[in-house]
Amino acid sequence: MKGEIFFLILLPLCIERSISSTNINSPNKGGNDDLSQSNHTSHNATQKENISYEAQQQPTISNVIKKMTDFELSLYRTIAKKHDENIIICPFGIFFTFASLMMGTKGSTYREILQALNLHLFNTTDKPHALPSIFRMLQDSITKNEDLVLEQGSVSFVHEDFPVKDSFLNVSLQYFDMEFSNLDFQNSPKAKEVINNYIKNKTKGMIPKLFDEIDPQTKFILANYILFNGKWIYPFNPAFTELDTFYISKYSNVKVPMMFKTDKISSIFDKNLRCWVVKLPYRGNASMMVIMPQENDLASIEDHLSTELIDEWLANMKLSKMDVYFPKFKLDQKYKMKKCLQDLGIKEIFSGKGNLSGLTDERNLRLSQVTQRVMIEVDEKGTEAVAVTGAEITAYSMPDTFRADHPFIFIITEDPSKTLLFIGRINDPTKP
Ligand SMILES: *[C@@H]1O[C@H](CO)[C@@H](O)[C@H](O)[C@H]1NC(C)=O
Ligand SMILES: *[C@@H]1O[C@H](CO)[C@@H](O)[C@H](O)[C@H]1NC(C)=O
Ligand SMILES: *[C@@H]1O[C@H](CO)[C@@H](O)[C@H](O)[C@H]1NC(C)=O
Ligand SMILES: *[C@@H]1O[C@H](CO)[C@@H](O)[C@H](O)[C@H]1NC(C)=O
Ligand SMILES: *[C@@H]1O[C@H](CO)[C@@H](O)[C@H](O)[C@H]1NC(C)=O
Ligand SMILES: *[C@@H]1O[C@H](CO)[C@@H](O)[C@H](O)[C@H]1NC(C)=O
Ligand SMILES: *[C@@H]1O[C@H](CO)[C@@H](O)[C@H](O)[C@H]1NC(C)=O
Ligand SMILES: *[C@@H]1O[C@H](CO)[C@@H](O)[C@H](O)[C@H]1NC(C)=O
Repeated sequence: MKGEIFFLILLPLCIERSISSTNINSPNKGGNDDLSQSNHTSHNATQKENISYEAQQQPTISNVIKKMTDFELSLYRTIAKKHDENIIICPFGIFFTFASLMMGTKGSTYREILQALNLHLFNTTDKPHALPSIFRMLQDSITKNEDLVLEQGSVSFVHEDFPVKDSFLNVSLQYFDMEFSNLDFQNSPKAKEVINNYIKNKTKGMIPKLFDEIDPQTKFILANYILFNGKWIYPFNPAFTELDTFYISKYSNVKVPMMFKTDKISSIFDKNLRCWVVKLPYRGNASMMVIMPQENDLASIEDHLSTELIDEWLANMKLSKMDVYFPKFKLDQKYKMKKCLQDLGIKEIFSGKGNLSGLTDERNLRLSQVTQRVMIEVDEKGTEAVAVTGAEITAYSMPDTFRADHPFIFIITEDPSKTLLFIGRINDPTKP
């Protein structure tokens, strides 16, 4: 993989063995919530009069993107607090995978997911298909961008005699383009081989062996993958790449291949948070935003990251000629996200007590894990053959310098829709 960015998410549903068959799934109080009739909105006179509040409750694509971004940043923060290493996640993928699984849930299980995804404040009374249609539009706006997305898909592997409801099949096809494939999970070596081959094929060999083992109790696995084309519009010139020092902390540093280019770059210095924010454009109307504190203090930036802050940076950026030094790096990370998602409030579905009656009439199902694998490689490559861009430096416009030589955060967004696709942190560019 050269300059490509990839993610895969897996949600396996297993039969819960440890729960006795009595007293499960006590009926949920007050929950009549086919698709999306969340009722979290408090009705009171103050709010009814607040026009802008009402406007924000409309499930429009831009409102949903804002709420999704809030979810994505929360997920990143939850993970960032548990690790102090490099991070790369695709919270967008988690959002959509859960949005599709949510269609198989009802009652309080549905509401938990809706709320964790930050969608509970939308007024979808009278419009049960409003959210799924927006998921569809959002997905399309990204996946139909052929300059950006090379390969993507959703697939559910279903155990042979596991009854999946028609309504779930229909919604999954209509709004999530999901493929369905039947398997005998009880023959787990064979099931493993089928899934591994499927994923290997779909990911162009990038993930040759996904599972070492599959639980024979598995009934259903939902998988979601996307392969992005992470190519700079303006490449770095490999001839300028040199080994240079990257300061991991006050006390330790490493040598990294540091790329260089002079280019017109959008940037801003945030005086409050004392950090540089620069935007490096990718082809396909996407870009990588790099956020680097003056000193090594990523944690305080992580605490402040919000949709509003990012919008403010973007709105105030200035285009100017800059010398950019940026390390080459390659990350390949695998996260088990169950704990983080539970921290964000998604609990019942992991417990064996979840209400999955939109998916099936079988009981005692639990989501056993949520695994995300993400790979990214950042190198000099761009769309044009090696070219030195914007290098005519004139005497009176001395370029500023942006040197990413200590830990930073990066965010990859699809720009027209402002959809946050990936977010990560580089602590040590020499580590995978
Ligand atoms: C929604 O909330 C209102 C006000 O809290 C309540 O009167 C109503 O019964 C709720 N509806 C449902 C379907 O839960
Ligand atoms: C109505 O909503 C507003 C804003 O959320 C809140 O401050 C206020 O306390 C609520 N009033 C009542 C009577 O619930
Ligand atoms: C009305 O909405 C604005 C913007 O969301 C909010 O700042 C304000 O507090 C709201 N006012 C009331 C009375 O709820
Ligand atoms: C799931 O939720 C629906 C709607 O709230 C309810 O009618 C049904 O009884 C619940 N099923 C289970 C198994 O709890
Ligand atoms: C939700 O929208 C419907 C019309 O689509 C409206 O009648 C209702 O009052 C709205 N509810 C809230 C809480 O804003
Ligand atoms: C699912 O779709 C098929 C074909 O479009 C339709 O005949 C069937 O009634 C649908 N089932 C449900 C439960 O929506
Ligand atoms: C891989 O996928 C391609 C196209 O989707 C298909 O033609 C081919 O038969 C597949 N190969 C294997 C080994 O499944
Ligand atoms: C990128 O955005 C421009 C302007 O918004 C648009 O004209 C162009 O079609 C977009 N390209 C892609 C690949 O989406």
